[in-house]
Formats: sequence, C-alpha cells, structure tokens
Amino acid sequence: MSLLNIDKERCRRDGICAKECPTKIIRFTDDKFPTLVKNAEEYCLNCGHCVAVCPHGALTLNQIGLDEFPLIEKDMLPNSEAIKHFLRSRRSIRTYQKKAVSHELLAELIDLGRFAPTGSNKQQVHWKVFEDTNKIHHLSSLVIDWVKLMVKKIPDENTVDRMARLVTSWENGVDRIVHGAPHLIVTHAPSNQPSAPSDCVIAMTYLELYAFSKGLGTCWAGYLTSAANGYAPLIEALGIPKGHKCFGAVMLGYPQYQYYRIPTRNAPLVTWI
Ligand SMILES: Cc1cc2nc3c(=O)[nH]c(=O)nc-3n(C[C@H](O)[C@H](O)[C@H](O)COP(=O)(O)O)c2cc1C
Repeated sequence: MSLLNIDKERCRRDGICAKECPTKIIRFTDDKFPTLVKNAEEYCLNCGHCVAVCPHGALTLNQIGLDEFPLIEKDMLPNSEAIKHFLRSRRSIRTYQKKAVSHELLAELIDLGRFAPTGSNKQQVHWKVFEDTNKIHHLSSLVIDWVKLMVKKIPDENTVDRMARLVTSWENGVDRIVHGAPHLIVTHAPSNQPSAPSDCVIAMTYLELYAFSKGLGTCWAGYLTSAANGYAPLIEALGIPKGHKCFGAVMLGYPQYQYYRIPTRNAPLVTWI
C-alpha cells in the first residue's frame, strides 16, 4: 500500500501538491508525475493538504477515498464582516438556564474541535464531557477545597482576597467556579507533547465559538484548570490519566440572558517592527 496514490488520468502535473506539502515529502521535477521522497511515511503528517489542494481530485492519501474529503462550498463561507461581528459578539456566560444541552449537540461540538490546528497534526486533544450536574457540583466543591488550601500559601494579598471571596460566595450558596452550568468540558493531553497546551486551548476555542453559533453560552473555568494541575483529589475526580495534564476547561449551557451590546476593549498591545 502506497502512502500516496496518483490518478495519472486526472493529474495535470502542476506540482501544487508538492509546493503545499508542509514536510516536503512530495517530489515534483521536470513536469513528471509527483513521487515521494525516501522514507516519506516517516515524515508525512497525514494532514491531507496534498489531497485537499489538488484542483483535479488526482490524489488519495493512505487509500482514503475522496468522498471523505468534502468539497469546500464557497457560498457557505461567512464574509469577513459577519465573522468580525460574530467574534466581537461572543461573551463569557455565567448565568445558565436549568436546561440540559442534548448529548447529540455536545457530541457535535466536540466533533468540530477535531478541525482545529494541532502541532505537527498530532491530534492529541482528549476531552472529558460532564453531563451530570451533581458531578459538576462536586468538582466545584473540590476546587473550593483547593482554594482554601491556596489562600494559606499565597503571599499576594490581592489574590488571597479574591480567592477568599470565592469561598464566601460558595458558603452562601453561590458557585463562582462553574456558575451552576449544566455542563463542563475539559481538555487534557500528554504532558510531554510540546504543542499540547496550545492544541487544547485552540480546540476548545473552536468549540466555544461553534457553541456560540448554536445559541449556547460558555465560560472558561480558570480556577478549575489551575486546581486540576496540582490538586490530586480533583485530578482523580476529573479522571485525568497518568502522563496527561489538563489544559483547559469550559462550562457550557443555554444562557439565561441575552447580550445587546459589544463591550469596549483596550487598544492592542502591539509593537510594529
Ligand atoms: C484562560 C481563561 C480563564 C478564565 N477563567 C475564568 C473563571 O475561572 N471564572 C470566570 O467567571 N471567568 C473566567 N474567564 C472569563 C474571563 O473573565 C472573560 O473572558 C473576560 O472577562 C472577558 O469577557 P468576555 O469573554 O465576555 O469577552 C476566563 C477566561 C480565560 C480566557
């Protein structure tokens, strides 16, 4: 079985596949049909760019049929103004309806996360999806236990003050860890994978934006993520496997309130060079 199959009837020998291959394993010389370099299998990222960029449908990778590579429907792509408005309109949501998101929709969100970029196309983003509100509440309680430990250790007064307020809220029946959201989504990945933190955050961001497009609200659970990186009872309750690290958590549900305006943000901290 060859890594790359070229349909010589369809191939126009334009060399686009070779130019676009990120690891340069496709050799194209003298207008001949493209070939593979030695040990190409070892270097191939399986990113599928060679197949996806060929205007003639002349390539298959790992014998995966072209029907697994759907055509890009240009008419379905939103214009840049629509995207700009969409991105500016997303908000962190902290008040949720007591209504569960269907399992099918949650699965659709996770599935979309597969299309986020990952370092070397490793695709090592793992997900934990919590659908049980009691379990989520228990996770919050563990974060509060961790916060109580942290306030004794942290020297910075402002941080201690902020964290102490979380505990006071909790004791008054207000959950500021996951805000009573009906769902919690956690990403984890092998901690020895250099791109793992970025891979997880980008995949979660894809999910978050897609969720917004579906009328859902999300908010990053930063305290929970911090606790998940050191507090054993939480790591165990989350089910993070050995050798993995949690690289982000997001709460999710149907928003209770609608937003009408886009808030202001600081000017970008940019250096033009
Ligand atoms: C990494 C990260 C961690 C966050 N952690 C929390 C959190 O623990 N609790 C919370 O209520 N909001 C959290 N947020 C939400 C931010 O407070 C929010 O993004 C910011 O105030 C801007 O509001 P916006 O998302 O609506 O634009 C977090 C956001 C990020 C990106």
